[in-house]
Amino acid sequence: MRFDTTGKVSLDHIYDQPDPRTYFTVLRPLDYGVPQQAKPYFAKLITEYRESQDVAAPKVLDIGCSYGINAALLKYDATMDELYARYDDDLRAGESRETLLARDRELARSRQPPQAIRFAGLDTSAGALSYALEAGFLDDVVHADLEKHEPTPRQLVQLSGTDLVISTGCVGYVTERTLTRVVRAQGVRRPWMAHFVLRMFPFDSVERALAGLGYRTVRVDEVFRQRRFASSQEQSLVLDNLSAAGVDPQGLETEGWLYAQLYISRPYDITGTNDANREQS
Ligand SMILES: C[S@@+](CC[C@H](N)C(=O)[O-])C[C@H]1O[C@@H](n2cnc3c(N)ncnc32)[C@H](O)[C@@H]1O
Repeated sequence: MRFDTTGKVSLDHIYDQPDPRTYFTVLRPLDYGVPQQAKPYFAKLITEYRESQDVAAPKVLDIGCSYGINAALLKYDATMDELYARYDDDLRAGESRETLLARDRELARSRQPPQAIRFAGLDTSAGALSYALEAGFLDDVVHADLEKHEPTPRQLVQLSGTDLVISTGCVGYVTERTLTRVVRAQGVRRPWMAHFVLRMFPFDSVERALAGLGYRTVRVDEVFRQRRFASSQEQSLVLDNLSAAGVDPQGLETEGWLYAQLYISRPYDITGTNDANREQS
């Protein structure tokens, strides 16, 4: 088992496969479930945005979208249990990527999104993005590492017009560098944001950068189980990092699970942003 610099087990090999089977097979025993926990919070925020900003079909950008998991949950009302059963299944093991894609396109065709919504995904993994787009989970994909590079002119066009920015399991890999670049791509618009972030990753620098761009960030009181530790070694490395970050793990990470918190960032002047949004759209 390899660990990354944060003490977490390295799962990089599951992020860039041609289809989601390895992702779900590796994460199932770890009970990775944060997208499911995030679903009602994202859905509520999207509804609030739609109603308060008078936008019929908001454009959501999922940062670190991987195989389009949050989109599948929110657009097609899938559940994580359903996706685990769908991809971590002996019957599917011998199937081609094309066969899997055909089944997923059928899922996308057969379920009407509860409300009109456009879903774009940003990720560094080309394989995951291609799958999500071809399956019909995502409407557009941005293959970029905005930690390292400014968006290209084409990526700026793709990112512009974003109404909401969401993420699960991605802050840590991405920082305020990516989020700032996404916001700057909007001109005067200020998309709303909701990020589920492991407690081991301090959010202060993101919050400060967003404040400089006109955002107020609120941390939701609840904590959310992200997944089980992969081993006692991972747990002890993460407990060390939590202590170093001044986070008390008693009753939470000490009990065998990694926990996330939800940060919601909205522009201070929602009315002003609304006007700016109208001007731009
Ligand atoms: C733990 S996975 C989370 C995937 C998905 N959001 C979920 O919750 O199931 C982290 C994702 O972040 C992506 N990632 C890593 N570094 C990134 C970066 N610099 N910019 C965008 N995505 C990145 C990985 O490719 C991977 O898809």
